Amino acid sequence: MRRRVGNGVQQIMADGVSLQDVVKSFSDMTGIPKLNLDVKEREIAVLAGTSGCGKSTTLRVIAGVEKVSGSSIFIAGRDVTWERPEQRGIAMAFHSCAHCPHENVGENVSFALRPAWVSKEEVAERVRRAAEMLELTPYLDWKPKDLSGGRRHRVAMGRESVRDAYCFLFDEPLSNFDARLRASKGTELSLLHKKPVVQ
Ligand SMILES: Nc1ncnc2c1ncn2[C@@H]1O[C@H](COP(=O)(O)OP(=O)(O)OP(=O)(O)O)[C@@H](O)[C@H]1O
Ligand SMILES: [Mg+2]
Repeated sequence: MRRRVGNGVQQIMADGVSLQDVVKSFSDMTGIPKLNLDVKEREIAVLAGTSGCGKSTTLRVIAGVEKVSGSSIFIAGRDVTWERPEQRGIAMAFHSCAHCPHENVGENVSFALRPAWVSKEEVAERVRRAAEMLELTPYLDWKPKDLSGGRRHRVAMGRESVRDAYCFLFDEPLSNFDARLRASKGTELSLLHKKPVVQ
């Protein structure tokens, strides 16, 4: 991939996710002051910082649910700055994620696979693996409204994990695990990367 730098010089870039001079302003607030970030393919990046420094906004910009101007965003070697979220090949689980209230946890987790060409057996297997990793197996038949907030958030993560995406974005993925699970799940999330639900 090539990108323009400074005075028009072209620089070769590897695949992955790359943000170039990303600035995001809201009417009277700065969401992201200025950010250059290169995450190589198959790398895990963790954004850490004080509350309000722009972590969630950065994920939303990569996902395309927030637009940026005067900036460039590359995913898998493609300039996606003006692409819609569904064109970008990413999966994202945010803090406040809507669920289908009339469907159970298993159906919610498989939601994103409906338009895709995936056999019933493969859907069932991906849901099984995601539920196991997120400790949702006992709740597959439950309705989201009957779950705790933390488990509901994990349903949203499960729904994204089963997708065949180039890049997975998780906003505060460990915040809804209790202290006991937090350490082990941090390790398992990195395993999700090495050994994805979609194989
Ligand atoms: N839709 C919006 N309208 C106006 N300001 C916004 C909007 N979204 C975010 N901001 C502002 O942008 C800044 C960055 O917010 P963001 O949610 O990205 O922070 P964060 O690093 O994720 O914080 P936290 O750790 O508390 O989740 C904050 O000052 C926030 O108030
Ligand atoms: Mg945030």
